[in-house]
Amino acid sequence: MPVSIVVGLQWGDEGKGKMVDHLAENAVAVARFSGGANAGHTVEVDGKRFALHLLPSGLVRKDVIGMIGSACVMDPVTILEEIRSLEGNGISIEGRLKISGKVNLTHPAYRCLEMQSESDLASGKIGTTGRGIGPTYVRKYKRNAIRLEDVFDMENFTKLVDFHTLDAVNTLNLSSTQVETLHADVKNFIEATKEVSRFSADVSLSISEVLSKDALVIAEGAQGSLLDPDHGSYPFVTCGQCVSGAACTSLGFGPAPVTEVIGILKAYTTRVGAGPFPTELDNQIGQRIRKAGNEFGTTTGRPRRCGWLDGVLAAYSARINGCTSITLTLLDVLSGFDELKICTGYELDGKLIDYFPESVTLLDKCKPVYEELSGWLSLSMQKYPSLSNWNLNSGSASFSAGSILHPVNTVLESGLM
Ligand code: IMP
Ligand code: MG
Repeated sequence: MPVSIVVGLQWGDEGKGKMVDHLAENAVAVARFSGGANAGHTVEVDGKRFALHLLPSGLVRKDVIGMIGSACVMDPVTILEEIRSLEGNGISIEGRLKISGKVNLTHPAYRCLEMQSESDLASGKIGTTGRGIGPTYVRKYKRNAIRLEDVFDMENFTKLVDFHTLDAVNTLNLSSTQVETLHADVKNFIEATKEVSRFSADVSLSISEVLSKDALVIAEGAQGSLLDPDHGSYPFVTCGQCVSGAACTSLGFGPAPVTEVIGILKAYTTRVGAGPFPTELDNQIGQRIRKAGNEFGTTTGRPRRCGWLDGVLAAYSARINGCTSITLTLLDVLSGFDELKICTGYELDGKLIDYFPESVTLLDKCKPVYEELSGWLSLSMQKYPSLSNWNLNSGSASFSAGSILHPVNTVLESGLM
């Protein structure tokens, strides 16, 4: 009864979507377990590009079941657009999409509330994607959220929605035009929820049915481990859990069927939004990586901060996720550099450390210590063995260069890059 979990090992945008789509070839189900419309990846099918934020990327394969777990948050208007974009291009998802009735919905007012709370933060902004993710999770833990399954009791649903509309109008200083717009958005929200509700399902039960047939489930994480609210660079994090352990809680199965945890690691590092980033290159090299890798947010279009690969961070992420393998992506972006650097340690208060500090205050003080390597002109299998010199974790046993080589090889051979 195998489950393969795919997670990002950095600050998101490591290329999980591509890998999940690739793995989905052998899977019966792809189940997204975290986040909401803050995530985003582009999938290409038959020359057509689809920008997906909420739908599991495996759904573009016509024989795959797509699931969305209870710990995800959902903007019904956004997901409806995605459903229509797939269906409009001949990819029917009827009977193949199962959304947990327990997902919490993003009321249109939450986006306004989020922007206001971001502008109130005296201590610095988080740089949210503005998709209302934070306020949706806040309502969940305040225990007055709107869940997808609430729509099946229309009277109660309308009451809940009205409560949140009124609450926002009272909290925000909205102009009459803004209030009008909000009411129009709320109408769309209600209609979209009704339409999407036909996909509401017991995801835990559906997964157990797939697993009882010994078929493969891919559990797809969102964002990256350093954006996890527990293990990431808090407070500069998202609100959905980004680490592998969250797959079980969100999708409703125990850890026993998990046979693989695949960590996706980009050959360099990027970060959107604020917060510490030891290997950041705020210079021409960073700009060159950004241009070569087209490092602009799928959801917001913001330029991503770019930097060298951080092996200390990678070793930490591999540990907290219990990675059984790591896939290194986007190596081709680094082609043509005379010299490449990999961070193998940090200098903290004059001392050399080779571990990732628990506290974000300490992380902020860490200066990267690099190993320098000569680059390559273009990436080819002949050049590839030079990668075996890459000592990612300076001696820690959590993963060796060898364990990285195998998945990188697989990715190269599959032409994913
Ligand atoms: P939020 O999830 O929109 O509240 O954003 C919180 C933080 O997570 C911000 O720094 C965002 O830039 C970051 N973030 C959220 N989703 C993604 C993503 O898919 N890729 C990269 N960063 C993200
Ligand atoms: Mg992304």
